[in-house]
Amino acid sequence: MAVTRTPFIAGNWKMNLDHLQAIAFVQKLAWSLADARHDFADAEVAVFPPFTDLRSVQTLVAADSLPIAYGAQDVSAHDSGAYTGEVSGAFLAALDCSYTIIGHSERRTYHHETDATVNAKVQAAHRHGIVPVVCVGETAEDLERHGASAVPVKQLRSALEGVDGSKGLVVAYEPVWAIGSGQAATPEQAEKVAAALREVIAELLGDQVADATRILYGGSVKATNIASFLREPNVDGALVGGASLDIDEFTSIVRFKKHVGA
Ligand code: 13P
Repeated sequence: MAVTRTPFIAGNWKMNLDHLQAIAFVQKLAWSLADARHDFADAEVAVFPPFTDLRSVQTLVAADSLPIAYGAQDVSAHDSGAYTGEVSGAFLAALDCSYTIIGHSERRTYHHETDATVNAKVQAAHRHGIVPVVCVGETAEDLERHGASAVPVKQLRSALEGVDGSKGLVVAYEPVWAIGSGQAATPEQAEKVAAALREVIAELLGDQVADATRILYGGSVKATNIASFLREPNVDGALVGGASLDIDEFTSIVRFKKHVGA
């Protein structure tokens, strides 16, 4: 029997907005969603600010009981010790982070994160009760050489090796060529890869976990294309970069149900 997965709209701020800007932004986002009478049963909303903002976001969300989840953009594979510049999952858990992004293509490219690193970070997130948002995706060259699914499938297989499926998982399919390019994948492309990724989850973690796991699409998501992705059976939400920094645009993306059928 098919499980109903609550759609998940996540804003990856990347290296934008300091902690003061984050407070103003999250407050305004909450007002904007309230004004639009957003029903959080239609879509869960999460923001992923830089590390230095998380304490401020936590304080605001807790003080005003805002229905917005938040998480980090990365986590260390280690829990503590001599790892200059790294941030432990224990610290993120202490800030009530529900999620952490792991293996974003920008980290794989600029920080040379390997599939093994991504796997270690998934396990680290789980040790601290944080749900990993595991990013996978192919480059334009991979697409030409191997088609769309091969690289993301390989990356996910490796990310999930030895992982406990009961500890929560979100997967984001982000074709590298679609990130920040203005050229999103087609909904059909996203669906094809998402379906292949769900099969990997089923094989490694079982059907129940595969049914319950939300698979997001990311890469040039906007208010004008979100509904077409969410119409696909295996696409359960979006990881939004640039458009998540514009409150009206992000609110409109969260309210994608309004434009289904448009
Ligand atoms: P854009 O939405 O700016 O293309 O970025 C996507 C992304 O990398 C989200 O993690």
